[in-house]
Amino acid sequence: MEFSIKSGNPQKQRSECLILGVYEARKLTASAKLVDEASDGYLTTLLKRGDIEGKLASTLLLQQVPGIAAERVLLVGLGKERELTEAGYRKAVQASIKALASTPARNVYSCLAEVAIKKQDLDWKVAQLVEAAQDSSYRYISPVGKPKSTDKGVTHLVIHAAGAGAGKLAEAGLKQGLAVAAGVSLTKDLGNLPPNICTPTYLAEQAIAMAKHYGMEVEVLERADMEKLGMGSFLGVAQGSVQPPKLIVLQHKKGKKSQKPVVLVGKGITFDTGGISLKPGAEMDEMKYDMCGAASVLGTFKTLGELDLAINAVGIIPTCENMPDADAIRPGDVLTSMSGQTIEVLNTDAEGRLILCDALTYAERFEPAAVVDIATLTGACVIALGHHATGLFSNKDALAKELLQAGEAALDRAWHMPLWDDYQPQLDSNFADMANIGGRAGGSITAACFLARYAKKYDWAHLDIAGTAWKSGKEKGGTGRPVPMLTSFLKRRADKSA
Ligand code: BES
Ligand code: MN
Ligand code: ZN
Repeated sequence: MEFSIKSGNPQKQRSECLILGVYEARKLTASAKLVDEASDGYLTTLLKRGDIEGKLASTLLLQQVPGIAAERVLLVGLGKERELTEAGYRKAVQASIKALASTPARNVYSCLAEVAIKKQDLDWKVAQLVEAAQDSSYRYISPVGKPKSTDKGVTHLVIHAAGAGAGKLAEAGLKQGLAVAAGVSLTKDLGNLPPNICTPTYLAEQAIAMAKHYGMEVEVLERADMEKLGMGSFLGVAQGSVQPPKLIVLQHKKGKKSQKPVVLVGKGITFDTGGISLKPGAEMDEMKYDMCGAASVLGTFKTLGELDLAINAVGIIPTCENMPDADAIRPGDVLTSMSGQTIEVLNTDAEGRLILCDALTYAERFEPAAVVDIATLTGACVIALGHHATGLFSNKDALAKELLQAGEAALDRAWHMPLWDDYQPQLDSNFADMANIGGRAGGSITAACFLARYAKKYDWAHLDIAGTAWKSGKEKGGTGRPVPMLTSFLKRRADKSA
């Protein structure tokens, strides 16, 4: 989809559809008022007759509205004027794009960014509009087979921004929104790809291509390199697969030389069968999404590259498959991690923490300002928080707060979970320093407690995205989360150090 900013009179815009907001209680937005006047009160008449009541995210498509240049008008409900929230605004924008998906309108003019939302400026509203529009119009393009026809829906969205200084602010929002949307889209694509294509080698190739495109540094460690480093835990998971494991290290160095980097670590299991502790068959295909942490690191780096953001950031992606095999690790095996700590594998399906722990130890060499890992780590997190909030764990309250606020601002929210030492004894083992599982109680917390043992040397946060990284059922597909949260977090850090 293409975007542009315009400041003209809405009623005079030649477009295939003019998108106007209406509140409940027959209250019109500024642009809707202008159209109402130009059309001799046509909108007021419809509101009086009850054709649209202004309920949040409801829509009504009008043809041949008199007195205006646009071919159609789409009215979008905004709810009660005083109660319009950030999330409500986003819903309304999404509804406007969805409503046009089945119409012939392609070049449209949206006046939704003019509405007032407490504490949010025009740049935020434009960025959200762009992100929401791109999100709703995302189509997965298969690298195999015949392409599915995608000849409907909006292709060009003009965003109305009138008033002094509005143009500049709107342009800034447009740039920001496009950059985030590009990252989200890449993360969705990588997640949606079939696991026979999106292998560890494929992810490494994508990282190398991206680094070249944006002038980032990239290094891919092979099995032999990891053996030298003593990454026995990561390599234990990888040993059951014919796909060679990779440790991808990406560096975006656009901050001051003296600035310590933020390190993002993403779980990159390109397919999780469970290993010898084999998963049940139902919906196992969805375990192709077990590399969404890795995909979100790559997506976030894409956004950093697009924005040329003034920050130092390192992305570390441990990636392999978790397969059952004659060579695969067994329940009862003891692995020695890079940190020297030994791990009794009681369940080969708790493999995410086994690859992440070595990546977390590897992160120490960058002397990080903070480390954030992102992982589809536990089914237990889905039970705890459902599909709305990402689970957030941290050994530093200030860092947790920073991420929570970044998520709020980006409408990509997390919820702070406990990481108390009270849970640690659940990981006790008679045969190693720790077991890799902690029983059914508090499963997402004991998984985080396991990782915490490898993240003692720096400020660290863990995002469990098992419930938020993709959708199941009819709408099956990657969501691109938590790229908006992560990019908002990094942008705020960059702004602060500027
Ligand atoms: N990738 C899964 C977690 C997962 C499961 C995410 C379902 C989303 C939906 C992870 O590797 C896993 O299998 N975790 C186990 C841990 C258990 C064996 C302690 C789980 O959650 O069942
Ligand atoms: Mn697993
Ligand atoms: Zn997994």
